[in-house]
Amino acid sequence: MQTVLLKCSDEALNRAAELVRAGQVVGFPTETVYGLGANALDSDAVLKIFAAKGRPADNPLIVHITDISQIKPLISVEMSRMARRLAEKFWPGPLTMIFPRSPLIPDGVTAGLDTVGIRMPSHPDARRFIEACGCPIAAPSANRSGKPSPTSAKRVMEDMDGRIPMILDGGECQVGLESTVLDMTGDVPRILRPGGVTEEDVARVAGRCLVDETVRRPLREDEKPRSPGAKYRHYAPRGALTIFEGEPDNVARAICQCYDGCGRPALILALRDHVHLYGDRRVLAMGSGADEMAHLVFERLRDADDMGAEYIFSEAVADSGMGLAVMNRLGRAAAFHIEKV
Ligand code: TXA
Ligand code: MG
Repeated sequence: MQTVLLKCSDEALNRAAELVRAGQVVGFPTETVYGLGANALDSDAVLKIFAAKGRPADNPLIVHITDISQIKPLISVEMSRMARRLAEKFWPGPLTMIFPRSPLIPDGVTAGLDTVGIRMPSHPDARRFIEACGCPIAAPSANRSGKPSPTSAKRVMEDMDGRIPMILDGGECQVGLESTVLDMTGDVPRILRPGGVTEEDVARVAGRCLVDETVRRPLREDEKPRSPGAKYRHYAPRGALTIFEGEPDNVARAICQCYDGCGRPALILALRDHVHLYGDRRVLAMGSGADEMAHLVFERLRDADDMGAEYIFSEAVADSGMGLAVMNRLGRAAAFHIEKV
């Protein structure tokens, strides 16, 4: 299959929508990361997403909409007042809410779960794409399974060339990390995956917000997570990644020692203000705080691969606000190999 890469013109969006209506899969931009979209109500089309990604069949997909009126047929309950308030505040935007699913949703989308994740993206091209398709769009991140999520069309092409017919190029993703996945099936909203809408943001609107414990630690053997995606080693670069937590000077000293001693091609990921602590060692800046790190973390993990780094040593950031999402992704990429120094 030949994969065409097109800027998001009206013509390209119409061609993409035609493909989706014909049961195909199209790569498209969102404000979080690029997605691989297909008609969420077409079970054969949904299977093609899993094939293109090489995704395990037990990992459910998020369904994307552009208007709150589209949600009713997709879920089997009335949205609670709290859910409606969260939607008003954070949709369109980087928030996915989990509700009991309606029978309209094919089993393939929910991977057999009795719930479904719904998100309303804010990226104008994502919205134009979904509107042109005229159906809810099931979409995971547009990476091959196990690779970091792509934040530019070029990265989607690297993973999907020959596997899908079209990729829409809408420039770089603004947030850079996937949406917050918020379980709305209990009394208190629970973050299953941290993202652009933070724990503090949700708590401000809902009064309370839980953070699932698997956000901050690896799964135990045989543990069944609330979010199936937590089972898989995501976001993994080829090099062995270790995270160092502590005072900047201690962290820099420990990282330099490991870097100098490892005897293999290595790379350091550091906050911009700390780059000078690493002298002439190979170091890439990850921005100057959690928001910028969120934007850069996947790109830096891909850079590490491009640079042939066999060892990657990364600074940590405080795990509050956007820092929770950054540390969740970095932590998973490192299989939670975190050195406290
Ligand atoms: O920002 C995003 O959410 C991007 C863009 C494209 O919208 N999409 C995305 O999808 O990150 P994906 O498939 O890569 O990640 C979806 C995550 C997975 O960890 C999955 O297990 C979880 O959401 N998930 C989906 N439906 C769920 C459900 N019903 N219950 C629990 N977890 C669910
Ligand atoms: Mg993903």
